[in-house]
Amino acid sequence: MLKAKNIIEMMENWAPTELAEEWDNVGFQIGEYDKEINKILIALDIDHRVVKKAVEENFDMIITHHPFIFQGIKKINNLNYDGKIIIDLIKNNIVIYNAHTNLDQAIGGVNEELSNLFDLENSKTIVNSEENTQKGYGKVGNIGKIKLEDYLEKIKTILDVKKITVFGDVEKEINKVALIGGSGGGFIEEVAETGADLFITGDIKYHDAQKAEKLDLILIDAGHYHTEKIILPVIKERLKELNKDLEVEVYEKPSPLYGIY
Ligand code: FE2
Repeated sequence: MLKAKNIIEMMENWAPTELAEEWDNVGFQIGEYDKEINKILIALDIDHRVVKKAVEENFDMIITHHPFIFQGIKKINNLNYDGKIIIDLIKNNIVIYNAHTNLDQAIGGVNEELSNLFDLENSKTIVNSEENTQKGYGKVGNIGKIKLEDYLEKIKTILDVKKITVFGDVEKEINKVALIGGSGGGFIEEVAETGADLFITGDIKYHDAQKAEKLDLILIDAGHYHTEKIILPVIKERLKELNKDLEVEVYEKPSPLYGIY
């Protein structure tokens, strides 16, 4: 029999909370540490749909990438969105846990999974968070020389996304590709320093694109959701390895909510 604490221990051996950024709020957020867990829902975020499903289908625990409680909460009542959700979760005895910037940086975390999916050769971490390890943000490596135009469909297939936005010249030949899940716009300079030809991430802003052009770096915005949802099946795998009898389901957002459709 597994308890919430056993799942939390597994998650934190994989993605230690010390790896998380100071501004982040990762870990065990709601529920009872000793609760027996048989059924787990994995999602990128907690919203009313995820909670409705968890309640209706008797899930014991929800694991997300993004923290539900992020900043201080001053009131918990049913007059606002987050309050209603917290009340529902506690009434239904559902445990809430998240691994965010710690899972981005972990070995086998978000960025490493991206690197695996894109088959990067000689993959290296872009911004190391620990000396002498590959922990950190982003991966960069080679894919083999190809004209960008001929690589676009592959990107869409790997990330299972219908539309991506390219900032740069699709006629250009690329080889070295950088990947950062979620909002990678803040890392453009570090990525350019690696000598990457192409940087695939999400949430690209107009001024990010301008900065990248000056640094001779092509950007692709494939969406925050799509560049991070890839970790959800990996969490499922780890849970099944912990105990094959656990019932685990990955929740996928309905299409118009992806941000790209
Ligand atoms: Fe994210």
